[in-house]
Amino acid sequence: MSNVVIVGTQWGDEGKGKIVDLLTEFADAVVRFQGGHNAGHTLVIQGKKYVLHLIPSGIVRANKLCLIGNGVVVDPGALIEEIQHLAELGVAVNSNLFKVSAQANLIMPYHRELDIAREKRKGKGKIGTTGRGIGPAYEDRAARRGIRMSDLLNRQIFEAKLRDNLAYHNFMLENFYNAATFSFEAIRDETMRMAAVLAPYIEDVGQLLHQATRNGQCILFEGAQGTMLDVEHGTYPFVTSSNTVAGNAAIGSGVGPTALHHVLGITKAYTTRVGSGPMPTELNDSIGEHLSRVGHEVGATTGRARRCGWFDAVVVRHAARTNGLTSMALTKMDVLDELETLRVCVAYERNGSRIKDMPSDPSVLEMCEPIYENLPGWKTSLSQAKCLEDLPPEALAYIRKLEELTGVRVSILSTGPDRDQTMVLENPFL
Ligand code: GDP
Ligand code: IMO
Ligand code: MG
Repeated sequence: MSNVVIVGTQWGDEGKGKIVDLLTEFADAVVRFQGGHNAGHTLVIQGKKYVLHLIPSGIVRANKLCLIGNGVVVDPGALIEEIQHLAELGVAVNSNLFKVSAQANLIMPYHRELDIAREKRKGKGKIGTTGRGIGPAYEDRAARRGIRMSDLLNRQIFEAKLRDNLAYHNFMLENFYNAATFSFEAIRDETMRMAAVLAPYIEDVGQLLHQATRNGQCILFEGAQGTMLDVEHGTYPFVTSSNTVAGNAAIGSGVGPTALHHVLGITKAYTTRVGSGPMPTELNDSIGEHLSRVGHEVGATTGRARRCGWFDAVVVRHAARTNGLTSMALTKMDVLDELETLRVCVAYERNGSRIKDMPSDPSVLEMCEPIYENLPGWKTSLSQAKCLEDLPPEALAYIRKLEELTGVRVSILSTGPDRDQTMVLENPFL
């Protein structure tokens, strides 16, 4: 029996959803442990596309337990919408197999409003959030006033908490942000209506995972966002509001750290980022446009264009350290197919010194210039490759170079969006 944690090693959108779907075949339970519906995880199965925001990407496989852990912030309206959307795609979300932690904190309508009002106030210095209310909901959790899933089952407690929270947030919205305020009755009635729909799904997820482990079952932990968006280890303050690194898989789902066996880092063969903040290898030229167009680099949640650039080994080395990566899944290799020469950032330069490790001060990162090594492109399509022997020598050399620079072996190689366009070189579950 082994458990696998999946995390993003860059700025999100590395292809985590695709790999979670692929590996769910070998798991009994899949659990999301942080983030919320700021995530957009895309799966393509025999040409059919599914985009998931909150529900684990394992949901498309039959008879797997899919869980939302305590570390996730849940917008009840977004969750109900996703359940309905999946039903329209022919995926039934059954309350025996899908559960949400009673301890998960809720994203309320005023969190969304606060998120948007803050960004507006920051103007040019904005973070470029998804506007889903993620930050304000995590703040309320840390401030110990958050409303949790379990409160949906107790009207009295819910009303008292809502009244308290609204008194505070309406004051801030009106007097500090000059934004719209919310009516207690309207939120109460709408949330209680949603509570009736969600009640069958609310459970103690930590207990379910504990039982699964005792029964010898395998767990897949599904991370959202990426290491560089981690609230502590990322490019602060241009980050999300949760810990995205592997250690949080334990805290955010209610198991101990000894339950995390293999940490699989999902790594894009180049770099992308949505929103503001430093990105040393960003390309504002025709190659950046090429990566964006061929890689279809448009956000799955907000539809924003993703910034694109060369592979940054400093970023992935930082991810290897902060996540304790066991191996990597290298995705979107096929997007590089047509390029004559590939560049890989091996280190940074600042004031004439070579910097090999991620600077802990993001204002320093902002001033770093990438130092590149060039590698020859393979100029042929990888989309039909089935095994390493099918790869042109230049593609294999590119993989080996990334392994050498990051110190992490590639266990999975993805050469297209479809479930079938994947080579499992070493199964992390076996
Ligand atoms: P996630 O947030 O990490 O799950 O990634 P997203 O789903 O937001 O973005 C990854 C995008 O790349 C999706 O549209 C996937 O369908 C697609 N994708 C995943 N792996 C590959 C690959 O190997 N090649 C190509 N061309 N597309 C891929
Ligand atoms: P997945 O799971 C890429 C980015 C936002 C913004 C910052 C903070 O699909 O990889 P937030 O709304 O979380 O407060 O925004 O984080 N961001 C993501 N970027 N992929 C994601 O998720 C992201 N989730 C948040 O663009 O820069
Ligand atoms: Mg995404």
